[in-house]
Amino acid sequence: MKSEKEVARTKDPVSRRSFIAATAGIGSLSLSSKLSLAEIITSNKNPVSVDQLHGWGEVPGVAGIGYNENPFGPSPRALRAINEAVMDVNRYDFGAFTKLEKAIGEHLSLASVKVDVVPGREAFAASGYPVYVEGGSGFILNQIVMNYGIKWNTSNPTGEIIEVDPGYGGVSRAALSFRELMGTEVTVKRVPATSALKHDLDAMFKAITSKTTLIVITNPNNPTGTILSYDEIKRFVNAVPKNIMILIDEAYIHFVREENYQTAVKLSQEYKNVIVTRTFSKMYGMAGLRVGYAVGDPSIMSELRTLGNSLGVGSINCYAAIAALEDDAYVRHVKRLTNASKDYFYQNLENLGLSYIPSHSSFVMVNVNQNGQKLARKLLEKNIKVRAYGSEVIQNYVRFSIGTLDEMQAMVGVLSDEIKG
Ligand SMILES: Cc1ncc(COP(=O)(O)O)c(C=O)c1O
Repeated sequence: MKSEKEVARTKDPVSRRSFIAATAGIGSLSLSSKLSLAEIITSNKNPVSVDQLHGWGEVPGVAGIGYNENPFGPSPRALRAINEAVMDVNRYDFGAFTKLEKAIGEHLSLASVKVDVVPGREAFAASGYPVYVEGGSGFILNQIVMNYGIKWNTSNPTGEIIEVDPGYGGVSRAALSFRELMGTEVTVKRVPATSALKHDLDAMFKAITSKTTLIVITNPNNPTGTILSYDEIKRFVNAVPKNIMILIDEAYIHFVREENYQTAVKLSQEYKNVIVTRTFSKMYGMAGLRVGYAVGDPSIMSELRTLGNSLGVGSINCYAAIAALEDDAYVRHVKRLTNASKDYFYQNLENLGLSYIPSHSSFVMVNVNQNGQKLARKLLEKNIKVRAYGSEVIQNYVRFSIGTLDEMQAMVGVLSDEIKG
C-alpha cells in the first residue's frame, strides 16, 4: 500500500524531476514563473522539501560556502509572505516597518515603551518597542560608528574603537573609512584573541583609555565561531565605564549549540550603553533581502532612527521577516541540518588529521597547516568557494561556511585530494 506522501506525489501535477529542473534554471526564469515556483514551494503540495532546493541563486556546480549564507534558503512561510506582498509594491506601506519592529519586540519578549506620537506622523510612529530595523545589520554597525564611535562635538572629531583580532572587523573598517573620508581622528585597536581564538575580555578591558568610545563584541565571533557566556559578557559590561558604548553583534546567535544559552538582549534592556544587533541574513536565509535590527535603550534606538533612512526596508522584506520570525520550526530545522553538515565535516577533518575550532556558528575555522589563502585559491579552481585571511594569526586557517550535506561532501572530496597531495 502506498503511503500518503507517495499518493500525493503521484497525484501532484509538478513532478519531482520537473520541479528540480525548474529550480536549477531559476536564475533565467521570468518573474511570473518565479512567482508560480514560489507558489508551488509554499503550497505544501509539492513533494520536494525546501532543504532539497540546494543551488538556489548559486552558480550551478559551485559549492558556495564562502559567505556564511544559509544554503537552505528562507522559511516557506517567508516565501509565501513575499508572494502575497509583491502585488502591492506600487503603494507606500507605512505600516510594514512598524509591524516588523513590533514583531521583533514581541519575539524577544521586550517590555514595550511609551512613544510620543507626533500629530500627523502617526503612520511613522515607532512600534512601542526599543527596536530599530534597517537594511542589513552591516548598515547599523556603520551607523553605530557614526553615532557613538566618533565624538563629533569638538572641532577635531575623535574616537577609539576596540575590536578583537581575528574578528568580523566591520566596525573597524567603517571607522577607518570615516577617518579617511572625513579626517576624523578615530583610532582602532584590534586586541588579539586568546590562544583558543576567543575574545580576550581582560585584554580588551585593559586596552580602554580615556579616549575609548566604542567596544565591539561579536558573539558568536566571526570568523572563529567561539562564544562568550552571558556571565562573562555581563561582568565585562559591568566593569566598562558607562560613557563607552558596547556593541554586541549577535548575527550568528541562532546557531549556538549550547542548551539554554542566554543572549545579551537582556543586557541591552538594562544598560543604556549596550546595543545588540542581529540580522535576517544568516539563520533566516534572507541575505539578499537586507534586513537587520538593533535593540537597546529606547533613547538610543530613536537616535539611530534619526540618522537612519526612515522607511529603509521595503514592505516585501518586512513581511518576509515577520513571517520568518513566526516560523520557529523552520529555525530548528535549519539548525538541525546545519549541525548534521557540521558533524559530518568534523568527522572528516579528524580523519584528515586537521584541527579546527569547534564552532557555535554556521561556519568552521580549520587549521589547514599551509597558507590558507593559497589553498582557498586552489579550492576555487575546483568550484569550492571558501574564505581565508591575510592576518598573521590565522594565515594557516580557512573558514568553511556550512553548506548542504552534498556541498560538504563535494568539498571534503576536493579538500582531501589537496591535503593528501
Ligand atoms: C558578524 C557579522 N555581523 C554583521 C554582518 C552583516 O550582515 P548583514 O548586513 O547581512 O545583516 C555579517 C555578515 O557577514 C557578520 O558576519
